[in-house]
Amino acid sequence: MDEKLFNPSLLYDLDFSTTSCTFKPTLGPKEPGEGLVMRPLERSDYAKGFLNLLSQLTKVGSVDGEQFVEQFERMKKSSNHYVVVIEDVIRSRIVASATLLVEYKFIHGAAMRGRIEDLVVSDRMRGKQLGKLLVETLLKLAVKLGCYKLSLDADDQVKSFYEKFGFRDGATLFMQLRFFD
Ligand SMILES: CC(C)(COP(=O)(O)OP(=O)(O)OC[C@H]1O[C@@H](n2cnc3c(N)ncnc32)[C@H](O)[C@@H]1OP(=O)(O)O)[C@@H](O)C(=O)NCCC(=O)NCCS
Repeated sequence: MDEKLFNPSLLYDLDFSTTSCTFKPTLGPKEPGEGLVMRPLERSDYAKGFLNLLSQLTKVGSVDGEQFVEQFERMKKSSNHYVVVIEDVIRSRIVASATLLVEYKFIHGAAMRGRIEDLVVSDRMRGKQLGKLLVETLLKLAVKLGCYKLSLDADDQVKSFYEKFGFRDGATLFMQLRFFD
């Protein structure tokens, strides 16, 4: 068994008897579709094309296997990164992924805030409800972990996708300062 970023039972114990959006046919973390498995990121996922998948979302740049493992270890140690992947187990390829990042706060009674990051479904696998399944899973995981709020950055093109789950425009202005691309 390869080393996992977090305990997989956190995913498989989620209650999918009710969902924020509609699934037709029904999907869940234990049954994401034929030939597919949903699980936490593993140490060896570099070899299964995890970074190639991320390059369909944004620029990944040059990251070798050693750097990947170092970053994996940092995430595991921090214990607030929940990188969820869907693997095509026939081809041994990672075909979809999304991350729940949990911030520990002093405000709101020392609560936790969740952020969805880096959602991407491989172009050949889009339209099979995998994007919805990942967001629904992270939403339920955020509730289970005790987050008081879940937020994300999205452009206008995917706004209607996130609205299916109940996400709405926030009242605050998103600002950023980029140090490099
Ligand atoms: C956006 C993305 C994750 C959707 O994944 P997917 O697996 O193809 O989506 P699903 O099959 O789960 O889509 C389900 C629903 O969302 C809708 N949808 C899919 N992609 C959409 C998009 N880009 N914008 C708006 N709605 C979208 C579908 O029409 C479908 O609607 P329905 O349930 O009412 O029939 C995928 O297109 C992707 O990886 N895009 C590139 C990366 C990206 O933009 N990531 C989001 C960053 S914020």
